[in-house]
Amino acid sequence: MRDTYTMNAGFEPIETAPIAELRALQLDRLKSSISLAYENVPHYRSSFDAAGVHPSEVESLSDLSRFPFLVKEDLRQNYPFGMFAVPRTDVVRLHASSGTTGKPTVVGYTAADIDMWATVVARSLYAAGARPGDVAHVAYGYGLFTGGLGAHYGAEKLGCTVVPVSGGATEKQVQLITDFKPRVILVTPSYCLNLIDEMERQGIDPRSTSLEIGVFGAEPWTDAMRAEIESRLGIDAVDIYGLSEVIGPGVSQECIETKDGPTIWEDHFYPEIIDPETGEVLPDGSEGELVFTSLTKQACPVIRYRTRDRTRLLPGTARTMRRMAKVTGRTDDMLIIRGVNVFPTQIEHEMFKVDGLGPFYQLVVSSEGNMATVTVLAETTDAATDPKPLADQLQALIKANVGVSAKVEVGRPNTVPRSAGKAQRVIDNR
Ligand code: DLL
Repeated sequence: MRDTYTMNAGFEPIETAPIAELRALQLDRLKSSISLAYENVPHYRSSFDAAGVHPSEVESLSDLSRFPFLVKEDLRQNYPFGMFAVPRTDVVRLHASSGTTGKPTVVGYTAADIDMWATVVARSLYAAGARPGDVAHVAYGYGLFTGGLGAHYGAEKLGCTVVPVSGGATEKQVQLITDFKPRVILVTPSYCLNLIDEMERQGIDPRSTSLEIGVFGAEPWTDAMRAEIESRLGIDAVDIYGLSEVIGPGVSQECIETKDGPTIWEDHFYPEIIDPETGEVLPDGSEGELVFTSLTKQACPVIRYRTRDRTRLLPGTARTMRRMAKVTGRTDDMLIIRGVNVFPTQIEHEMFKVDGLGPFYQLVVSSEGNMATVTVLAETTDAATDPKPLADQLQALIKANVGVSAKVEVGRPNTVPRSAGKAQRVIDNR
């Protein structure tokens, strides 16, 4: 850790190292990570053998594209511990992601993995503007979900005073914010909106709290949502991205000085963008599916893991490392309405254009004959507002800008279901 904390310096020197140094380090680490996977995990051995590739063939970073992908189903098939590259006794922590169907996917961490994870989260919080000595309110869920504990260890490593609140008990959260005076809050953007509402309900001006920085992630959110949260809470809102299969939160983080999409901590997680249909690697700047290869993970190395998240790779700005554009959405949440691909974030973007609508929404998908139809549930901010004109306005905006005909139902305040963690944006009734 450094003694002085100036903007743009970063938490660790590698964040601003010359590109050539970074690429050399990545190649070195890629070779070890691919070998570790091949030597120790039967799944990789058989999938590499079947594809006719061997770790010894990795001579440049682009050779990675010859290796087969890893998909969530592979992890399910190796449930619970089949993907471990180390003896189970070397695994000090397990996390799991629930998934809506079937078995959860399990991830394990060695002590060194936990330390690397804490470091990338500390790096993330530093990039978000947090500093040692700050009080950090962690409202991501603690438990098998990686959000709470991942944020926690990173905030401790940075030197913050951590308040491990977890999700839920909204009234209590507001009391703790008032009493402990955190400077930083780590929470899903959708749950943060609940906290703001609860402050207002308790007669507290949300702009008057001690909070200055929000580190928001675990779900897609738009720049319009950022603007809403920043103005209502009087803070800077930055994006943290991650997924349990790759490590948890802290795979990438948006820098507060640029707010231009999360910087990927590329010295640990090597990104590729692929065409989701063909699997072909696309040049930086193209929109496609994000794929990660872990470079330093021991217990559960991932080689070319398909995240199902849609984004683009962008050149570095505040750091040398590449950025990713804000995630548009997950392939799983993509709706196909009469042949048009629709992500919930596109609806969110339109919704914020309508004055008088609150920031909560949900998409309900049903079928009429063979056709999928979507109903957007939204709500007014004021019980006295006539919802009909707002519904008509949103419907027209969605038709014009997203290109689909959606039904829009606008209810009174508090009619759209709330969640204490990740918002459930899509209810599929088909
Ligand atoms: O959500 C890890 C996390 C916790 C990230 C707290 C950030 C903050 P999973 O439960 O495995 O892990 O879900 C991973 O969530 O593939 C994305 O679809 C989505 N996601 C996570 N962060 C973002 C973000 C955690 N900043 C899945 N923007 C990922 C958009 C995100 N989507």
